Amino acid sequence: MAQTADKFDLYQQSVQTPDHEVEFFEQAYREAYKRKPYVLREDFCGTFAVCCEWVATSPRRTAHGVDLCSETLRWGREHNLSKLKPKQQSRVTVLEQDVRENQTPPADVLAAQNFSFWLFKTRQEVVDYFQIARSNLNAQGILVMDMMGGGDCYTEELTDKRTIKKGKKGFAYHWTQESFNPITADAEFSISFKFPDGSKLKRAFEYQWRFWTIPEVREMLAEAGFRESHVYWEIEDEDNPELDGTWHRSGSAVSDPSWICYIVAIK
Ligand SMILES: C[S@@+](CC[C@H](N)C(=O)[O-])C[C@H]1O[C@@H](n2cnc3c(N)ncnc32)[C@H](O)[C@@H]1O
Repeated sequence: MAQTADKFDLYQQSVQTPDHEVEFFEQAYREAYKRKPYVLREDFCGTFAVCCEWVATSPRRTAHGVDLCSETLRWGREHNLSKLKPKQQSRVTVLEQDVRENQTPPADVLAAQNFSFWLFKTRQEVVDYFQIARSNLNAQGILVMDMMGGGDCYTEELTDKRTIKKGKKGFAYHWTQESFNPITADAEFSISFKFPDGSKLKRAFEYQWRFWTIPEVREMLAEAGFRESHVYWEIEDEDNPELDGTWHRSGSAVSDPSWICYIVAIK
């Protein structure tokens, strides 16, 4: 099963929820500027699933996706873009280049998801990237990034295993914290997939990142010129279904062993 598997398809099923992302961008933008956003730029867009979801939610919406990897972009064209109606397709532009090179039309929302900017390992590189991202935004624009952390992220060779699809044609997703160097904060992660016949797609995706923290990132956003930044934390409250799973601007949170949040920077 591993030999015939499509790693991009497995990735999308395991880690991406484009409808949720679009909903969150709308919430964060509304809370910043009290109106709807229309122009999206998705940096490190990979298979640009979020761009495709974005244009499908309104005929006024346009999206620009930027990524260096031609193989990943090609997969996105064949499997995500092709599923849209022709008019929707015409509102997606994909650019194969470095996120630091291009000037696209000013965006309302610039998204850099799945910790992608962590590949910039020095403060200078991150500040430079944030300055360029800021220049790619409208006067009323937001930069949205996700962050992760918690004690588990510092435990080497720790794997979080999840069944994504049950049954004979199902598969499991393994997220492994391969290594962490406390002196440099260099961290290596990988994604593997396991199938019911016992076969494995080992290290289908590998990441060599600097493990940045929320306060460091907020300081760098301020240094790059952003007016404000907000941390959105997820509320978990099973007794209150209205609130459970919703995201709110927060100034403090419990020290969960493994957490994910958003940082939203306001131009
Ligand atoms: C962690 S993946 C994220 C993919 C997608 N955004 C998601 O949320 O799943 C990082 C992506 O960034 C791309 N990438 C890495 N360095 C880049 C750069 N300097 N400029 C543009 N894309 C880059 C890689 O090709 C890869 O597709």
